Parts: sequence; structure tokens; C-alpha cells
Amino acid sequence: MDKPLLETTDITLSFGATRALAGITLQVAAGETVAIMGPSGSGKSTLLNCLSGVLVPDTGTVYMHGQPISRFSDKDRSHLRLNRFGFVFQDGQLIPELPARENVALPLMLTGTPRSTAFLTADGTLGRLGIGDLAGRLPGNMSGGQAQRVAIARALAGNPEVIFADEPTGALDQASGHEVIQLLTTTVRMTGAALVLVTHDVNVARWCSRIIEIRDGIVHSDRRLDVKEAL
Ligand SMILES: Nc1ncnc2c1ncn2[C@@H]1O[C@H](COP(=O)(O)OP(=O)(O)OP(=O)(O)O)[C@@H](O)[C@H]1O
Ligand SMILES: [Mg+2]
Repeated sequence: MDKPLLETTDITLSFGATRALAGITLQVAAGETVAIMGPSGSGKSTLLNCLSGVLVPDTGTVYMHGQPISRFSDKDRSHLRLNRFGFVFQDGQLIPELPARENVALPLMLTGTPRSTAFLTADGTLGRLGIGDLAGRLPGNMSGGQAQRVAIARALAGNPEVIFADEPTGALDQASGHEVIQLLTTTVRMTGAALVLVTHDVNVARWCSRIIEIRDGIVHSDRRLDVKEAL
């Protein structure tokens, strides 16, 4: 049998006396869209950061296709994040001095793609997401929802195997949050990548194929949903 895309085996992580993760074992398969929910401080971001190799658990291991990525060197984990993962954060984190096209192209150039190819890919990705008209626009001249769409394009442009998103709609009003989550889940599904998304909002989580609820650093529930089709 194929190894799961991502797997954690009883991972724990403490920050000083605070036990953020108290033993989490889970698997994520390719193509799954997973929402991580739970109260503030329950360990959601810490779990996301362990899965994406930003943090290393104190005990237990994170595997990708059976490879123990949490035991890789810092350099190899950075390489993994840049080449095989995409990230979307709450506030977009676009570079304010660069227009959308260059924001999307930058991670590609960092992995060695020539500038002209990176720009073509960036334009193609923006177009695919229906925001080609934003290519030349600076982040400061975009709405929050537009900036998040550009951030999604940036996360998708390198064809990652997993997109990690921490509260990607947290700074948006309900209507634009809804549009952004719909765009994120449908485009991720089209590419066959997996999505691991942290959210407080059940209306966001219901666009995913699975909801894992974390409480006090452990998995409280883990259920699969019928996949909602975009309207
Ligand atoms: N860098 C850090 N240093 C110290 N404590 C931390 C750090 N990061 C997280 N914690 C603590 O670990 C616990 C889990 O934090 P985490 O950020 O994973 O929670 P969360 O579920 O993402 O919360 P929220 O919904 O508020 O974002 C909390 O008690 C938090 O205060
Ligand atoms: Mg958090």
C-alpha cells in the first residue's frame, strides 16, 4: 500500500510549561481537504506548523510519503516547504512593494525558475483563478478578498502537494470569506493537492472533506463530510 501523504505518530510539543500538542496521531491522504477546528489555544496552529515542517515536535514523528520529515535538517525542511508546500496566511502576507504578478512569481524564482517563465506561470495562475486583471496591481490597492486570492495564486503556482492555510478567511467579511474558501477548496481539488486549513468558522470548514477538532492538544473528533460542490 502507498504510504499516506502526511502522517503524524503521537506527536507532542511544549512551549516551556505549556503543552501545545499532547499526542496527535493522524494521516492525511492526497486529495483530502482537511479543516482543523477547535478553541483558541487548543494547538491548531502548532499542529499545522508541525505538519508543514515549520516546527519540530518534541516526541513523535511527522512523515511525508513515509519519509520522516520532522527529522530532516532545517535546510531540508526549508527546501520541502519552498518546493512542495504552499502557504496561505490570515493576512495574505503579500510583499507590499510588488504587484500581484511578482508576488506570485517570487517563490518560483526562489526555486530556480527563470524570471520570464515564472511571470508566465504567475499570469496563468492568476488567470485560472479569475483574477488576471489584478496582475499589475499593488497589494495596497486591493481589497482583503482580492489580496487573499492573490495569496492563493502564490500558494498554488508551484504545483504544491499540500497547501497549508491558517485562518485564511479570518480577516475577511463573511461574503468575501465565503468566496475565498470556495476558490481555495475548488482549485485545490482540481490540482489534486491536499489542503490542511485551520479555521474557527464552521461555514468555512464545511467546504472541506474532513473536519478534525483539536482540544487541549489532542484530537477530539475526526469526521468526513460530503464534499460540497461549488455553485
Ligand atoms: N511560540 C510560542 N511560545 C509560547 N507558547 C506558545 C507559542 N505558540 C503557541 N503557544 C501556546 O501553545 C498553545 C497552543 O497554541 P496554538 O497557537 O497552536 O493555538 P491555536 O489553536 O492555533 O489558537 P488560536 O485559535 O488562538 O490561533 C497555546 O497555549 C499557546 O499560548
Ligand atoms: Mg492559531
